[in-house]
Amino acid sequence: MIAPSLLSADFARLAEAAESVAGADWLHVDVMDYHFVPNLTIGLPVVESLRKATDLPLDCHLMIDDPDRWAPGYAEAGAANVTVHVEAARDPVQVARAIRSAGALAGLSVKPGTPLEPYLDLLREYDTLLVMTVEPGFGGQEFIPDVLPKVRLAREHVNAGHLRLFLEVDGGVGTDTIAAAAEAGADVFVAGSAVFGAEDPSAAVEALRRQARGAMTAR
Ligand code: DX5
Ligand code: ZN
Repeated sequence: MIAPSLLSADFARLAEAAESVAGADWLHVDVMDYHFVPNLTIGLPVVESLRKATDLPLDCHLMIDDPDRWAPGYAEAGAANVTVHVEAARDPVQVARAIRSAGALAGLSVKPGTPLEPYLDLLREYDTLLVMTVEPGFGGQEFIPDVLPKVRLAREHVNAGHLRLFLEVDGGVGTDTIAAAAEAGADVFVAGSAVFGAEDPSAAVEALRRQARGAMTAR
């Protein structure tokens, strides 16, 4: 699945941005609070409006402190997937259950420096693992290939039947990097600048999808 990130879109024209990638699978919404990351973006009222403006499933990536308090609200607002950071969650089991009982898939994200091994059991409570391939906070950064072993490890656990997860990568994903992520086992690809920085966002989504498919067949 390809999930264009609105972080690289024109914030005064979000509905048009969503429309321009109507062929995508998820629409990635980066929620930042100036505390967990040094950037401030959009919050619940905008997600509520987006929900009415597009039929694309909303993939809300919460880069915020105290997601335990705020995450269920995004599920209630109609997000398809709500991802919290393991570094920020106080009770990640509880927050996953709250997100799911509010009707969304629950996602857990790890920053580049956060190891995955301590959280493998916890991931039984989740539907999505988001492996950050840049430091969270800003679009347009360079993909960090050193985190791909975490994707490989998660893929092994999924293939062995220990976990059932979408494996999502986020940050620096473009035509030059998507194949490496797909070969490592990712199946959801977030792309901000590679999509909204392109002349034709919908063609950019298609190009990414083709490359990911090619690499997944090779895996
Ligand atoms: C970064 C965000 C990403 C960002 C990716 O903190 O989580 O979703 O939009 O942007 P690109 O694809 O430009 O690296
Ligand atoms: Zn994101």
